[in-house]
Amino acid sequence: MSSLKWWEHAVIYQIYPRSFQDSNSDGIGDLNGIISRLKYIADLGVDAIWISPFFMSPQHDFGYDVSNYCDINPEYGNLSDFDQLIEKTHELGLRLMIDIVPAHCSYLHPWFEESRKSKDNSKSDWFHWVDPKPDGCPPNNWLSFFGGPAWSWEPRRQQYYLHNFLPEQPNLNHANQEVQEELNNVARFWFDRGVDGFRLDAVHTINGDCEPYKDNLADPNFTLGPLPQDKQPFFRQLHDVAQLNQPVIQKFSEAYRRIADEYEGDRFLMGEVNGDEGNAMTVSKTFSEPGRLHATYNFDLLEWTGLSVSEIKGAIANAIEAFNGSGRLCFAFSNHDVPRSASRQLSPLGITLDKQDDLQLLLLQLETSLIGSSCIYQGEELGLSDVTNIQFGEMKDPWGLNFYPEFLGRDTCRTPMVWEKNKPMGGFTLANEAWLPISELHMEKAGLDMAKSEGSIYNKFSSFLKWRRKQPAMISSNKMSELSGGPSEIIFDRESETQILRCKFDFGLVKATFEEVTHGTS
Ligand code: BGC
Repeated sequence: MSSLKWWEHAVIYQIYPRSFQDSNSDGIGDLNGIISRLKYIADLGVDAIWISPFFMSPQHDFGYDVSNYCDINPEYGNLSDFDQLIEKTHELGLRLMIDIVPAHCSYLHPWFEESRKSKDNSKSDWFHWVDPKPDGCPPNNWLSFFGGPAWSWEPRRQQYYLHNFLPEQPNLNHANQEVQEELNNVARFWFDRGVDGFRLDAVHTINGDCEPYKDNLADPNFTLGPLPQDKQPFFRQLHDVAQLNQPVIQKFSEAYRRIADEYEGDRFLMGEVNGDEGNAMTVSKTFSEPGRLHATYNFDLLEWTGLSVSEIKGAIANAIEAFNGSGRLCFAFSNHDVPRSASRQLSPLGITLDKQDDLQLLLLQLETSLIGSSCIYQGEELGLSDVTNIQFGEMKDPWGLNFYPEFLGRDTCRTPMVWEKNKPMGGFTLANEAWLPISELHMEKAGLDMAKSEGSIYNKFSSFLKWRRKQPAMISSNKMSELSGGPSEIIFDRESETQILRCKFDFGLVKATFEEVTHGTS
């Protein structure tokens, strides 16, 4: 029925592999675990899976610090497990996307191990090496997302290197053509194995041609507000003039697009990009211009402390203004980096805990009714709550550990999935302990139990997705009307040549309704 490409309307299920399903009793999820749950995902009715990183990595940032892009961390399995995974995913009619991290690698990657040794080795300029100022200080005022300066010292070179995240995640120098060639080989390696697309991690943080390493500006609008981010120095600066979103990044986008286009089967490139306040849509447009990435992953609905109805409307309206008629944008309410939406959205929407499940369903339906693609995060289909009672000694996320207790970091949304209430550890693992604690709160909403329970969010959402697949207005066109509705409503029409579908999300009744209307109906 659809004339669109699969990714222009896909519902993508995000798996955080460490916390999905353990198959070898070490308390850590793995690829064989994912294989054993593929039916659960396919039955939900999604179109594709995106798996967060499972490559070789010392796990300082749980896989977003890669030490070999073309092999699998033994905790997660091996390449033949991956081949099985891709085959079985395709057999079930699902596409498979993986997460590539092009901006930085691990400090244990052989490229960095070589580069840091001296100023004249074969990889000496594969990273950003800069002399100290005469007083020994770093070259400029850039800060790392996770706290502290974006510069660390290497005594052998008597120089600083750049890292936008942890010191264990040195930034690659994308001005170096050999670096680009190596990353091109990574794309080919995984496309050759059959993956359908990449989620490209933090592409706006790619650096190259940074000289003269200008200072960032102070953000004139910064105020010490109630948000956890406000307590972190990184958020006192504007970054798009110097540190982030530099034009050189598009060389990477274009190189990756050329490679994707060499392959059959509509391989998809979705970039995680962000910009300074007010700049996000411009950044998304730049990244998805012809010949660059197919789509960008949008942060606007992921706000750490949640959004009110009018803020959600504002975010969607901005997106429609920039992208109506195209599938160049992907929406998400939850992922592995923010508190779970079922909890986070309660208070800003004025919804009580007893309506949490209804709210979760409403958010899922809203997100998957918008133009473009959408990503739902493991456990959203169950309405899982954020887990805020993890003890300091059990915390793992380095970002949270840096800012505790003002900020708990990302462990709260990364605890292991539970599958069956009556099994030890909820069926996640046969070990007595998991890498993060399993939440008692989640036991009542165990995945396989919910899949068997008629009125569960899982089943309601699954029916919705199956209905959605049959609506031309949702899957054969990416057009939608402007938003309307009172203060507690979001109303819009999805429109195709053969159908107009009025989508109404009522946050007072906590309920969505969909009605086919004829041209001229108001
Ligand atoms: C990922 C994070 C990761 C960061 C650095 C992102 O935006 O989603 O989980 O810590 O990039 O790679």
